[in-house]
Amino acid sequence: MTGKREDNMKKSYYITTPIYYPSDKLHIGHTYTTVAADAMARFKKITGYDVFFLTGTDEHGQKIEQKAAEKGKTPKEYVDGIVEEIKDLWKLMNINYDHFIRTTDTYHEESVKKIFRKLYDKGDIYKSHYEGWYCTPCEAFWTETQLADGKCPDCGREVHQAKEEAYFFRMSQYADRLIKHIEEHPEFIQPESRKNEMINNFLKPGLQDLCVSRTTFDWGIPVEFDKGHVVYVWIDALSNYITALGYLNERPQLMERYWPADVHLIGKDILRFHTIYWPIMLMALDLPLPKQIFGHGWILLKGGKMSKSKGNVIDPVELSKKYGVDALRYFVLREMTFGADGVYNEDALIGRINSDLANDLGNLFSRSAAMVEKYFEGTLPEGRVHDPLDDEIISLAKATPKIVEDHMNKLEFSSALSVLWKLISRANKYIDETTPWVLGKDPEKRERLSSVLNNLLETLRYVCVMLEPFMPETAEKIHSRLAIPDEFLSWDSLGSWGANPFDQKLVKGENLFPRIELKDREDEKPAKKNTNKIKDSKIEAPVQNKSPEAEAITIDDFAKIKLKVAEITNCEKHPDADRLLVLTVKIGDETRQIVSGIAGYYSTEEMVGRKVIVVTNLKRTKLRGVESQGMILAAADGKDLSLVTIDKNLPSGTEVR
Ligand code: MSP
Repeated sequence: MTGKREDNMKKSYYITTPIYYPSDKLHIGHTYTTVAADAMARFKKITGYDVFFLTGTDEHGQKIEQKAAEKGKTPKEYVDGIVEEIKDLWKLMNINYDHFIRTTDTYHEESVKKIFRKLYDKGDIYKSHYEGWYCTPCEAFWTETQLADGKCPDCGREVHQAKEEAYFFRMSQYADRLIKHIEEHPEFIQPESRKNEMINNFLKPGLQDLCVSRTTFDWGIPVEFDKGHVVYVWIDALSNYITALGYLNERPQLMERYWPADVHLIGKDILRFHTIYWPIMLMALDLPLPKQIFGHGWILLKGGKMSKSKGNVIDPVELSKKYGVDALRYFVLREMTFGADGVYNEDALIGRINSDLANDLGNLFSRSAAMVEKYFEGTLPEGRVHDPLDDEIISLAKATPKIVEDHMNKLEFSSALSVLWKLISRANKYIDETTPWVLGKDPEKRERLSSVLNNLLETLRYVCVMLEPFMPETAEKIHSRLAIPDEFLSWDSLGSWGANPFDQKLVKGENLFPRIELKDREDEKPAKKNTNKIKDSKIEAPVQNKSPEAEAITIDDFAKIKLKVAEITNCEKHPDADRLLVLTVKIGDETRQIVSGIAGYYSTEEMVGRKVIVVTNLKRTKLRGVESQGMILAAADGKDLSLVTIDKNLPSGTEVR
């Protein structure tokens, strides 16, 4: 579908997804970001923008090197195979990207070498030493506070002090400029809550210089002027957003046309890299900053995060085979509020297919088409008999594109779809109100019957145009079955109701969406238990004997701690630590995962449904490899422990002061 809008003509729009690690199979979480970016890119294209949509793969680093070695392949041989699978997945999902970047592409590697050199020449990168606790099997440095019981937090083995030559980026000298930029551009980090997290948790406490080279492995872009060092994978990866536009390389020169990016779509877990390291790199390179970084929420499962080790990864290829690509695209965009976490479950997907797709859209389409077939042999005669019953549907159809556009411009995919579905539901109601089957029995009402069906087909044309960014295959089906000429498929053509005369013969075909019969399905497999248990770490902070005076804090100190009421919606045992429970909590609209050391005092069953008090602005951390975002308050005397709770039924999200 094509479309032009005079006011948007020649305005560029540059949107990116993260570049994915080609280490494991991509799952529904990765598909979510890419489908969202694709929907947005398609929407901008049909509303007249000159769009550049970039995705790709992040192929360097030690993990890839290790995986390749395990398979007896070179890293490049190993990633080549997976990258093909990723491209096939995007093809299957109808992802219409403009360029696919691989960080092993020669042009990208050349640019990264030049970027590193440029920053070094400017004095932003300098050579020094990295010192810390080193875990040899994991080849990773840890700080004192990251250690778990004095051991490696990843594998639990002994660590030793080590010192290594490395290059560092002077991040700290850009911190004030970045804080100012973030404060002056409220749209820069979205959603809003994530902005505060970055400022308060990372920028305000002070930035440390970032170690930007490694010598412990080879699979990376070499630092040209110091052999033995490879460029830190995030410096390499983040640069993709400009190297793809030809920055310091021979690719077509697109920087002027598309930079700064309109939006980098990313998951919230990589927000720090995109809102701190990346802008600072750009400042150091004297380039403008992207207009927006949007950190969307996570698709979670009942037991928390999807992970290969838990064996609960949801495969988008299998789901699309079972339910169809468009059904999956629709589901992820409709079911989840884009900024917030959401819990995936297959019943909800089937529910959406049966109610929204088969019942609402599918029925509207098949009822309308069947009546045109039955009463007019597939070709509608002109119908100009107006009735007040038509007013509401016509005015709703006319108003809908603008509302959809407003939501899309704020990346509110779910709301945009919900508005579109209001129109679909209204059209179904219109059929019931106008009772075409009664009109069909009266030869004198043929013109009125044709008018009603015209209104229905015209509504379907509106739906078809607005649906294309979300469900391109379905839009294409509606378009060809209704034989709508291309000129009436642009967003602009929605400016004139009744533009398409519908005098073309409709094409017969199958139902758009068959209903899915709900069969008993196997419950989700329980998380795989790891039998390699590591001794539990101490969770409580050591008690220090200080005088009450010395320990006194001001009210401002206290105000720094954000406490809220949270409702526990799920609770599982930690796969790797007997004392820990992994909880899913709702805090207002937000869903989070918190790991808490209370397993010795509460069973998993007792936890669900409880309302507790949570510290919401604690730095995100990993406890025995499981991510935790926040802390649940409890009183403990060494022998027993009791959760701090509320004695009235206040809603989750309520502030505790
Ligand atoms: N290679 C880095 C990104 C570099 S961008 C310069 C990376 N890759 S990743 O493959 O691990 O993850 C890519 C994206 O997928 C991240 O934005 C991450 O948030 C997202 N998701 C991974 N699992 C997810 C869910 N379960 N739900 C939603 N998105 C999640 O990070």
